[in-house]
Amino acid sequence: MYRPLLLAGAALASSPVASGIAGAQDGGATVARMRPVADPDRMAARIEAQMTDAERTGMLIGIMPIPFPDVPDVPAGLPVTAGWVNGVPRLGVPPLAETDASLGVTNPGQLRPGDTATALPAGLALASSFDSDLAERAGAMIGSESRAKGFNVLLAGGVNLTRDPRNGRNFEYLGEDPLLAGRMGGHAIRGIQSQGVISTIKHFVLNGQETQRYTANSIIDPDALRESDLLAFQIGIEIGRPASVMCAYNLVNGAPSCGNAAMLNDVLKRDWGYKGWVMSDWGAVDGVDFLMKGLDQQSGAQLDKQRWFDGPLKQGLANGSIPRERVSDAVRRILRGIYAVGADRQPGNAPIDKAANAQVALEAARAGIVLLKNDGVLPLAEQARTILVVGGNALFGVLSGGGSSQVTANGDAPQVLHPGGEGLDGQLSRQVYFASSPVKALRAALPKATIGFANGYSVGTAAAMAAKADMVVVFATKWEGELYDSGSIDLPQGQDALIAAVAKANRNTVVVLETGNPVAMPWLDEVRAVVQAWYPGQEGGTAIADVLTGRSNPSGRLPMTWPRSLVDDPRPQIPGLGLPFRTPVDVRYTEGAAVGYRRIDRDPNAVLFPFGHGLSYTRFSHSAPTIRGRNAYDLTVSVTVRNDGDRAGADVPQVYLVERGGRPLKRLVGFQRVVLQPGESRTIAMTVDGRLLSDFRDRRWTNPAGRYVFAVGTSATGLEQTVSVVLPQRTAAP
Ligand code: BGC
Repeated sequence: MYRPLLLAGAALASSPVASGIAGAQDGGATVARMRPVADPDRMAARIEAQMTDAERTGMLIGIMPIPFPDVPDVPAGLPVTAGWVNGVPRLGVPPLAETDASLGVTNPGQLRPGDTATALPAGLALASSFDSDLAERAGAMIGSESRAKGFNVLLAGGVNLTRDPRNGRNFEYLGEDPLLAGRMGGHAIRGIQSQGVISTIKHFVLNGQETQRYTANSIIDPDALRESDLLAFQIGIEIGRPASVMCAYNLVNGAPSCGNAAMLNDVLKRDWGYKGWVMSDWGAVDGVDFLMKGLDQQSGAQLDKQRWFDGPLKQGLANGSIPRERVSDAVRRILRGIYAVGADRQPGNAPIDKAANAQVALEAARAGIVLLKNDGVLPLAEQARTILVVGGNALFGVLSGGGSSQVTANGDAPQVLHPGGEGLDGQLSRQVYFASSPVKALRAALPKATIGFANGYSVGTAAAMAAKADMVVVFATKWEGELYDSGSIDLPQGQDALIAAVAKANRNTVVVLETGNPVAMPWLDEVRAVVQAWYPGQEGGTAIADVLTGRSNPSGRLPMTWPRSLVDDPRPQIPGLGLPFRTPVDVRYTEGAAVGYRRIDRDPNAVLFPFGHGLSYTRFSHSAPTIRGRNAYDLTVSVTVRNDGDRAGADVPQVYLVERGGRPLKRLVGFQRVVLQPGESRTIAMTVDGRLLSDFRDRRWTNPAGRYVFAVGTSATGLEQTVSVVLPQRTAAP
């Protein structure tokens, strides 16, 4: 739960977090279990059978132990963190010490004084790497920090698809494509859980905008949902096996996500056979009946109108209105997760290797930077003598996204801006710049150049200084955060005018963007290069300088379509924007499963850069693809990639289904990042997931018989050679 309130005066001494997790006990003896138990289902059944009813129900409710002024009943002695669920010490069941989230271990309100953590770049940066191995290592890194700090649950794994380029939380997520988001999210979860820390996958499901997030009713064709947002979750769950799914605030087709039997009981637990537990989002539960609809645990219960899974649950159990078996099932699901992951192990107490973890953050930031445009001006020439950097607070550091995922980063103290003002964005705006200076990093990388800085507040001054430099690099930032969507895709605070004026004064102008979403670029034709750095994390300044100077060859690819404007958007206005907080509003996802680039009928003029786009300082070529297999569930597409340039670099060949039975369509069905030395070539084989060739109808995946045409390319529109195959119809389980 993100609380905008500033906590001056509310600071508490932090409890030693590591003391929070009891040592696991088995048969009375305390053991430090070093690996998950072999049969978590049996273990869960055995432990649950020994519980009293009070012990059972106690596991189904959690609190938010953060002493924010508007959060009541916070017991003393717990660590200040997002969530806490009591354990059952008698049976060796550990408490669940829950922390946010995907970009690093957070410290809400900085109420654990001095407790900093390694801050990864935005989820969108990780997604831009198209590198599932990197996602897994990044997950393992934050998992290990969680464990070392005494937390055994990370509220990570945000895989909500980008359906609105103004969504304030897109930066936490993994883009618009179900295969990309599911695969990257699944690997990040796998990495986290490899450290004995449970991960969630969230927010289930179709939490597509922050505006009116508690009352927005996401309306979509249920089959289209299976082919899009649900498919991202399904793939993520199959790869990562997260012990828990966090349901969302919004409603889906009229029923609250956390009390949505169609989503939780039917899709997740019945059709997918999910064995873990469903925890609510913080303040998303409206009644004890949610238990029967598939919710297993009420989180952050003080934020709901009632502690539903306490008194009302106990009453229901006693009077028989709530079946005992349902309660036992919910408890076994939680226990199973604990034992499957090894979250009952004692916290490692291992010292955190900050330097090694910073390298992971640096690698992720470099891999996530997308070179959108370059007419050859980049990498910065060694001979440029005077370079002027303008704007974006770039002398100090790099911007990060706001909300519950906000990490208090290692390194020097951040700069925090509170612009204030009315409305949610006024209250919520807490803009944190991590102390990683792109200017200092550029000065270190280019010792022979004179690198100046104009803060950009005065357009005239910046333009006058720009006119005297050999080169200009303008940094533009746009803060985004939880609970709040931007009303447009424009850069705020006159930055467009600044860029245009500087570019007019000096034609060697490069723009670096630090944003949590695509932004309009009215000045695009006037600048020579554009670098999308997203929110690049605690090592962001270094990563940006590395890319600008060519020390790191950019390899990021866009995980979402970059619109030129919103004229072609399915929802030109954000439903509910500007209405009073908690106004019920319908959000109609009429595009169905045709999210982002999949809407092939969209006006090409409405797209500035396609999904999958990203440039390099070297050149790659792709052979004609070949295909092997006899049906939709048995297909492999292979392509040989060659580095034709004179620098090492990484390419991300992408395979799209472009035609099926004579009809055009567009779906990403395979991708792989491959690092190649100059002149090196490699053949990669990509296994196709049959669901991506199918439609979801009548509770089954079915692919029609006919000819399937696949194209290999550099983006959703940069398609090269094709290959086709005739496939029989097949159906597959949901
Ligand atoms: C957010 C979740 C987060 C939880 C706990 C909620 O407001 O939506 O993503 O994990 O709070 O902080």
